[in-house]
Amino acid sequence: MKVFVTGASGYVGFAAACALRRAGHAVYGMVRRKEAEVLLRRAEIHPVIATMQNPAGVYATIEQCSVLIHAAADYQTDTLKLDRQMMEVLLAIARRGAQPKTVIYTSGVWVYGDTDDELVDETTPLNPAQLVKNRPDIERLVLETPGIRGLVARPGCVYGGRGGLTGTWFSGAETGEVSIVGDGDNRWAMVHVEDLADAYLKLAESGLRGEVFDITDRSRATVNEMAAAAVIAARSKAKFRHLPLAEAQQSMGDFAACLALDQHVDARKAVRLLGWQPRHGGFVDGAETYYQAWKAWS
Ligand SMILES: NC(=O)c1ccc[n+]([C@@H]2O[C@H](COP(=O)([O-])OP(=O)(O)OC[C@H]3O[C@@H](n4cnc5c(N)ncnc54)[C@H](OP(=O)(O)O)[C@@H]3O)[C@@H](O)[C@H]2O)c1
Repeated sequence: MKVFVTGASGYVGFAAACALRRAGHAVYGMVRRKEAEVLLRRAEIHPVIATMQNPAGVYATIEQCSVLIHAAADYQTDTLKLDRQMMEVLLAIARRGAQPKTVIYTSGVWVYGDTDDELVDETTPLNPAQLVKNRPDIERLVLETPGIRGLVARPGCVYGGRGGLTGTWFSGAETGEVSIVGDGDNRWAMVHVEDLADAYLKLAESGLRGEVFDITDRSRATVNEMAAAAVIAARSKAKFRHLPLAEAQQSMGDFAACLALDQHVDARKAVRLLGWQPRHGGFVDGAETYYQAWKAWS
């Protein structure tokens, strides 16, 4: 298959693009920086230069592809407004060229809001955190657009490789202070970056349409436990600083409330329908390995 990936230089998009390529597909990655071209070429991914603000340069490539994966995110602007705009572009072009097209939208588990101890799944009504309050609308747009195979991935917090949010624990370990929003007894739903990449591959090859999939592993460590594992892995004596949510909101805005979420998210639908299995047992299990990887990427 020919596959088009936005955000192909990013944490999620690069891993997804590599997994698709390793499975033998021809992969075209949208990147906005010349320097990212080398990263992609080394991984046998064809770079195509464009931005979400000005995507016209990739229309012809998109037309040729039968799978479109959206994993770009611009945190320097109104993130979800641009996210929706880009999805609208992809969905409009999806009716042209190779047919039918599978269009995969990357959402996230923050659309469930606080789940506390309740195990939620794709059938649970959503209660999105303020930061992602428009995400369910974008999900619906993808799922309900006729003539395409619209799919939604809701990954947990991604760990491994470059580190993503877990990298803030490693950088805190190195600078001597790890900041945690809230009391840290909350749990995040997690997924290893390569398990997530495998989920994109399975979604792309599934032939399914109109389905949402949670993509999380089964680990249930608290944020305190994961941050402590990160500090031990870095052989650091860093102190922990627990920021009350209201204080964190002053510097981080709506992002702070996402970090304080307590979540338990079930990914067994992906196991049942996609044959997907997370192969990594959680962040704490491999914290030393993840620290080394984070350092190598930093
Ligand atoms: N990471 C997680 O834990 C996690 C969990 C759940 C869901 N998600 C979702 O996954 C998606 C990707 O997240 P990520 O962690 O992979 O982010 P990331 O590492 O920051 O990657 C973002 C990608 O988007 C590209 N990009 C940024 N602004 C752009 C623009 N204006 N035009 C074109 N490309 C642009 C970046 O290019 P450059 O390389 O040039 O910056 C990069 O390739 C997001 O929607 C996020 O909400 C992530």
